[in-house]
Amino acid sequence: MNHSLLQVRRLTKHFPVDGGWLRPPRHVHAVDDISFSLKAGESFALVGESGCGKTTTARLLAKLEKPDAGSMLFDEQEVAELSGPALKQYNRDVQMIFQDPFESLNPRRTVRAILRQPLLNHDAAEKGEIDETVVGLLNQVGMEPGEIFMDRYPHQLSGGQRQRIGIARALTLKPRLVIADEPVSSLDISIRAQILNLLKALQAQHDLSYLFITHDLGVVRSVCDRVGVMYLGEIVELAAVESLFTTPLHPYTQALLSATPVADPVKARKRRRIILEGEVPSALDPPTGCRFHTRCPYSEKRCVEEKPALRELHPGHTVACHFAGDVGVDAAAD
Ligand SMILES: Nc1ncnc2c1ncn2[C@@H]1O[C@H](COP(=O)(O)OP(=O)(O)OP(=O)(O)O)[C@@H](O)[C@H]1O
Ligand SMILES: [Mg+2]
Repeated sequence: MNHSLLQVRRLTKHFPVDGGWLRPPRHVHAVDDISFSLKAGESFALVGESGCGKTTTARLLAKLEKPDAGSMLFDEQEVAELSGPALKQYNRDVQMIFQDPFESLNPRRTVRAILRQPLLNHDAAEKGEIDETVVGLLNQVGMEPGEIFMDRYPHQLSGGQRQRIGIARALTLKPRLVIADEPVSSLDISIRAQILNLLKALQAQHDLSYLFITHDLGVVRSVCDRVGVMYLGEIVELAAVESLFTTPLHPYTQALLSATPVADPVKARKRRRIILEGEVPSALDPPTGCRFHTRCPYSEKRCVEEKPALRELHPGHTVACHFAGDVGVDAAAD
């Protein structure tokens, strides 16, 4: 549990966008200088509003995009430098589960074909044992008996079943790290808990590590051990999940938490809701200093001028805010 499976250091990705005739190209600051690590067996969450760079981070890790700067160490090896068998192994070790299983599953292929493909591509099962392996995977993701689902197409499955196929596909190659990008946000509320429970059970069974990408703090609390909060391409707070929920230090985290529903009506009444003012600024031209200053209720001149560094305020709990620790947390505690 102590070994760092993944270490992301100062990772940066800017997308050039055409500035138009005679205008210089501009850049979307999708991911800006982010660092975090993930231990073997751990679930680490990245949370934040739409457009803050969560999916871009996932795509960089899955090698679907190339970083502009920074490093990603997997098992202490630089991912960008992997080639040959080591790269092939990385492509097996790191798998993704996507938000919308309907889009990520080929509609013209049966469940059997979808799950056979990675096994064939990677020579991961004996030819004669592939169907048996596929049935085993279906049973593991709760689609029992697996045989009855083998010849169905994605449109013949429910949303929850489709996501189970997405999970089974991620497991075909016995990965060590699964990156789950909003794995339950397209599902019915009643199905979400089932899929989250399945992911937790599979984690224990297969000794998996998860990078969980979500905007739903309820999901973070039920599944994850540690969390990084992103705002406009940057990580503004990193903490153990319990520490983040009891002592959120960044005003942005406090605002996010204050917007989550609380079951206890007494606590709900006591809680002060922080309403964030204004829109999320454009990632093409992020604000100076602290990027959150345009919406922060505690913003001062210093926040406009000086970018706050991440500093460790409590053991294992870091935050990038000049005034963290001095600004109220009661709004979020429950
Ligand atoms: N290929 C691309 N070209 C240009 N801009 C991009 C590209 N991919 C992402 N972006 C931009 O980068 C920023 C981060 O996008 P990203 O998809 O990582 O956000 P996200 O946190 O996953 O959002 P959501 O919660 O809506 O999925 C956004 O401003 C987005 O428009
Ligand atoms: Mg996304």
